[in-house]
Amino acid sequence: MLVKEIKSLRNIIKDWKKTGYSIGLVPTMGFLHEGHQSLIKKAVKENDKVVVSVFVNPTQFGPNEDFNSYPRDIEKDFKYCIDSGASVVFNPSSEKMYLKGNCTTIDVSGLTDFLCGSKRPVHFGGVCLVVSKLLNIVTPDKAYFGEKDAQQLAVIKRMVKDLNIDTKIIGCPIIREKDGLAKSSRNTYLSKEERKTALVLNESLSLAKEELAKGNLDVKKIKELITSKINSEDSTKIDYVEIVDSETLQPVEHIENSVLVASAVFIGKTRLIDNFTFQFDI
Ligand code: PAF
Repeated sequence: MLVKEIKSLRNIIKDWKKTGYSIGLVPTMGFLHEGHQSLIKKAVKENDKVVVSVFVNPTQFGPNEDFNSYPRDIEKDFKYCIDSGASVVFNPSSEKMYLKGNCTTIDVSGLTDFLCGSKRPVHFGGVCLVVSKLLNIVTPDKAYFGEKDAQQLAVIKRMVKDLNIDTKIIGCPIIREKDGLAKSSRNTYLSKEERKTALVLNESLSLAKEELAKGNLDVKKIKELITSKINSEDSTKIDYVEIVDSETLQPVEHIENSVLVASAVFIGKTRLIDNFTFQFDI
């Protein structure tokens, strides 16, 4: 079922809750791919009913970012969700999600100081706002997010904990194309040449993973390895290459616990992100 009104969705949720159904939520911005499908399928397996939200959230885009050009295809997305086992696709308008005069902000400080947070100053405020709205509307038992947006996942987990929101946040592994490129709706922006160049994200991180596995734990050298591999390709521009503590997301000087190795790279005009987590075992 396609639902556009918050009130209608709340009525459906009320009925489900009366019957005792468990509810899963998969928040998305649409233009769905196998990465989203893996979240939906996991949600379907673990819950009686699943809501997929499809909403290109204006508040998480900066003024020079791709809100207007972000790809949209609600008809295709609706079919994809239903075929993947979802019960409801929630596709509200911006006017319904953001009332005139709205002035509430959410700031998960500290966790947003580095990585994408430092490069996209309004981004996580917008993500937290829309995710908290969706959690309040759907009141799901579980909500599912991809590990490709590792900082987003950490920020949402912290927000839910801090605001006592009664939903379990589930992280799901990155889904990749056969050649290793992490699936993303933004991959559709890439030209044929850029698509080839984009492989350098995963390749550079794989080199780093191999070095770390060999026991080479020098943070500076690992970052240099990633950076020089990315720079060896024309038409790449590094936005960041960072190694941070997986929980606090603060840069580390030494690898002692679990770290997140993450990069954001412009391939032409398209900004792509990728990451992996490395667990240091003593
Ligand atoms: O990851 C996304 O697609 C978005 O940031 C999310 C979580 C749906 C919020 O708009």
